[in-house]
Amino acid sequence: MIQVLHISAECYPAAKTGGLGDVVGSLPKYMTQAGIMSAAVIPKYALKWIHGRAWDTVYRGAIRSDWRHLHFSVQQERDNTLGFPFFVVDIPGLYDRPGIYSDPVLGHYEDEIERYIVFQQAVLQWVAAFSPLERPRVLHCHDHHTGLIPFMVQHSPDFRGLSNIPTVFTIHNGQYQGAFSWKHQALLPYFDAWARGYLDWNGAVNPMAAAVKCAWAVTTVSESYLQELHHNSMGLEPLFRAEWHKEYGIINGIDAEVWDPVTDAALQYRLEGDQISAFKQQNKSALCAWFGFPEDQPIISYIGRMVGEKGSDLLPDAIKNYIHSGGSGSFLVLGTGDTWTQDQFRQMSYYYKGRVNAVIDYNEALAHQIYAGSDFLIMPSRVEPCGLNQLYSMRYGTIPIVRSIGGLKDTVPDIAAPYGSGRGIRFDQVSFDDIGYAIHRAVSMWQYEPGIVAMLRRRIMSIDFSWEHAVQQYFSVYQRIGAPIEVFSGRKEQDNVQEEKEETPDIQHKTRKSKSKQAK
Ligand code: GLC
Repeated sequence: MIQVLHISAECYPAAKTGGLGDVVGSLPKYMTQAGIMSAAVIPKYALKWIHGRAWDTVYRGAIRSDWRHLHFSVQQERDNTLGFPFFVVDIPGLYDRPGIYSDPVLGHYEDEIERYIVFQQAVLQWVAAFSPLERPRVLHCHDHHTGLIPFMVQHSPDFRGLSNIPTVFTIHNGQYQGAFSWKHQALLPYFDAWARGYLDWNGAVNPMAAAVKCAWAVTTVSESYLQELHHNSMGLEPLFRAEWHKEYGIINGIDAEVWDPVTDAALQYRLEGDQISAFKQQNKSALCAWFGFPEDQPIISYIGRMVGEKGSDLLPDAIKNYIHSGGSGSFLVLGTGDTWTQDQFRQMSYYYKGRVNAVIDYNEALAHQIYAGSDFLIMPSRVEPCGLNQLYSMRYGTIPIVRSIGGLKDTVPDIAAPYGSGRGIRFDQVSFDDIGYAIHRAVSMWQYEPGIVAMLRRRIMSIDFSWEHAVQQYFSVYQRIGAPIEVFSGRKEQDNVQEEKEETPDIQHKTRKSKSKQAK
């Protein structure tokens, strides 16, 4: 039985544009492994992974959207490839397109508002068709695409039967709130007229604001980002402050099975025993050969979407300034995004041949190789709710250079931090000078302190970034809002108590407490 249903626009490897996909692709697996049976549901896009699977229809229904009736089906992936039940909502004409939010050639889909309003209703209609005892114990919504669900279950007559299911809303990116004009109101399901204020923020329907108001708990993906939202959240600051009592910061984990230097099939050379320097050197040689870099210089890489939040637009000039001031090192870039930034990197690959190279593409396998073969990974983010790339890079022995913000601040103490807790290099300001100086510190360390670099690599590769800790924290949030989660040991349900004691001690402890609470 599904205890937690994760509802999202992305889920790796089915559909991913960024970290949201990674998280929703792995969190349910690790929750399930900890005994909290979890599932995920996303729209059925026309993407390669989705096409290559077998699907079984588990539900059929229809949704009114303005003047149209849209027929949909919910389908389950037959082979359970992801390690948890994975569902998609299929609506011909609405989701079966080659992109997630935008067409690879034509750009943004104009009907995004309708696509996600309908998706959320379809999911709720399907859940409402479960027998009450079989219903998920928590609806866990991710980002604004699913932000209307906490409102709909409470204030829409169609779904009010679900109003006693606790809702949790996780913010992976507060920059995108999904706001739209009230003139699209006819796309919404009917709702109590008096509840209109829950949807509204500054005269528009704002799904993120509605979720923060209506969800039973709101989480975001790091403690520092939660604090930052109280001061800087594109106009929602007073709301985040008012709802502080139900907000939690829980840092993401990474999928340690996908990101394992010992087994990673995408790497040219895998880690053997504790031969860290051989692992780094061999993978670096591969990068140098592919990208025309000298082996006796450090490689500093950037991987990710080229959008304002990530600060990637600062890098071209910061790198040029650094190179022209006599700094050494090679720069490698992988990602797609803003046209200006892409063009800058393309030009730099030409004018600074042998020093700068860029692959303007989304390429998961190459990303793995770059994490393994680089010396440093730079993340000059303006905003970073958690950041996964610094975690991947540390797992592969690449020292992060990060701006002190959000999750970067929480996961990468500077090498000058007390008690030998440093993991990388940090800088404070979004400025060319600060970025340049941070690169300079990194390169000097690489040149003059090889012993420290080797020690740091060993240290960061041994950090436990797995999901176990985050799963425990989500579980406490579920408990706190009274979700009657049952924890199963998976292997032998009849011998439940005995086994849970051995396998998930903390969760078991809390479960017993909650059961007795329920009994009262
Ligand atoms: C978003 C955020 C990123 C976070 C990820 C997963 O992509 O920008 O910081 O790590 O979501 O939560």
